Amino acid sequence: MTLAELERQVSACVRCPLSAGRTQAVFGVGNPDAGLMFIGEAPGRDEDRQGEPFVGRSGKLLDKLIAEELGIDRGGCYIANVLKCRPPGNRDPQPAEIETCRPYLETQIDLIQPRVIVTLGNFATRLLLDTSEGIRKLRGQVYPYRDGVVVVPTYHPSAALRSGGEVVAEMRADLIRAKQALAVAA
Ligand code: URA
Repeated sequence: MTLAELERQVSACVRCPLSAGRTQAVFGVGNPDAGLMFIGEAPGRDEDRQGEPFVGRSGKLLDKLIAEELGIDRGGCYIANVLKCRPPGNRDPQPAEIETCRPYLETQIDLIQPRVIVTLGNFATRLLLDTSEGIRKLRGQVYPYRDGVVVVPTYHPSAALRSGGEVVAEMRADLIRAKQALAVAA
């Protein structure tokens, strides 16, 4: 299985009802050889239209924080979501949708083989760390995932857009944590 083959499967996927409402599946963007991977929640309206993760307002903030704290752009990392199709009205992903879509994300991670994964918000963090704990408690630390890969949880950028300064500062601190974890893993 190659990443291109997986992307073809995802773009034709009809495993859950979200497929009926999508303009297109949103697979991922960036450098598949990068050591750093970001995982968000699900495509929103802009992502569904453009076929790329994090192209709306929260994506602009994410790009800015990645550039300022890590000195890279989308070409220096890989960005994907837990769900590949947009939930109607941007509602939360449902547990059944997450379970159905999960093998795609897991295969994507296996193929990209990042060394550090930054999970953005509750859904990605809970899925990868297999916990029901909230992001406020979980962020601020580095966790083992598997095969030497580590997870650095942080807030979803839309939470930073809602809540402002303190959350942005904590996201910055988490990105510095990710940078340090990458340097250790190099
Ligand atoms: N929010 C996400 O979690 N992912 C996107 O791609 C866009 C907004």
